[in-house]
Amino acid sequence: MKKHPAIVGVVGGIVGTILVAIVVWLTVVYTGAYNVAASDPHFDAVRWSFDTTMHRSVANRAGGADLPENASEALLAEGAGHYAESCAHCHGGPGQEPAAWSRGMRPEPPHLVEAAIEWTGEEIHWIVSNGIKMTGMPAFGEHHSAEEITAIAAFVSALPGLSADDYSRLTGSAHGHAEETPSPAAGEPSTGAAEPHSE
Ligand code: HEC
Repeated sequence: MKKHPAIVGVVGGIVGTILVAIVVWLTVVYTGAYNVAASDPHFDAVRWSFDTTMHRSVANRAGGADLPENASEALLAEGAGHYAESCAHCHGGPGQEPAAWSRGMRPEPPHLVEAAIEWTGEEIHWIVSNGIKMTGMPAFGEHHSAEEITAIAAFVSALPGLSADDYSRLTGSAHGHAEETPSPAAGEPSTGAAEPHSE
C-alpha cells in the first residue's frame, strides 16, 4: 500500500499547530507574562474581541422578556429607584457622574444615558439579569425579582430621553413609595436618601 504524503502533511500541520497553540497558552498562563493590572489598558485587538464577543453573545441569548411597549410612570419610578441605588455609582445618570472609583475598572462601565441606545430592551433585560463575565457587571437576577428586573430594564431603555429633572422626579417618587411606613416621627422625605452614592 502506498502512503498519501499530502494527507500526512496536512494532518501533521494541524497537530503541530495545536501543539504550538497549547505551548503558547501554557506559557501565557504560567509565566505571569500577561499583565492583569486594571490600570493597564487593553490592547485594541483584545478590547475588540471582548466587545464583539459580548455583543454577539447577548444578541444570541436575549429574548422572551415580557417588556411593556410604553412603560408607565410608576414602572419607570420603580426602575429609577433601583437604578439610583444599584447602578448609578458605576454607570452615572442624567446629570450625574459615576463614582470616581468606578473609573479605575477595566473595562470602564459606560455612561448608560448614552450607551443604552446601542441595546434593545430585551438585551438590557438579559444583561441586568445575567451580568457579564470578566467585566465586573453583576448578575442582578440572582437577588432581584422578575418584576424588579423588568422595571430596571424599562427604566434603562428610557434613560437616553431623560433629563436630570426627570431623573430626580422619578427617583424621588420611587422613594416616596418605598418609605410609606406610618411613623409618628415622620418628617419630610429626605432628598439625600435618593442619591446615597453621589460623591
Ligand atoms: C460595579 C460596577 C457596576 C454596577 C454596580 C453595574 N454595572 Fe452594568 N456594567 C459594568 C461594566 C464594567 C460593564 C461592561 C462594560 C463593557 O465592557 O462595555 C457593564 C455593562 C452594562 C450594560 C451594557 C452596556 C454596554 O454598552 O457595555 C448595561 C445595559 C448595564 N451594565 C446595566 C446595568 C444596570 C441596569 C445596573 C444596575 C441594576 C448595573 N449595570 C450595575 C459595571 C457595573
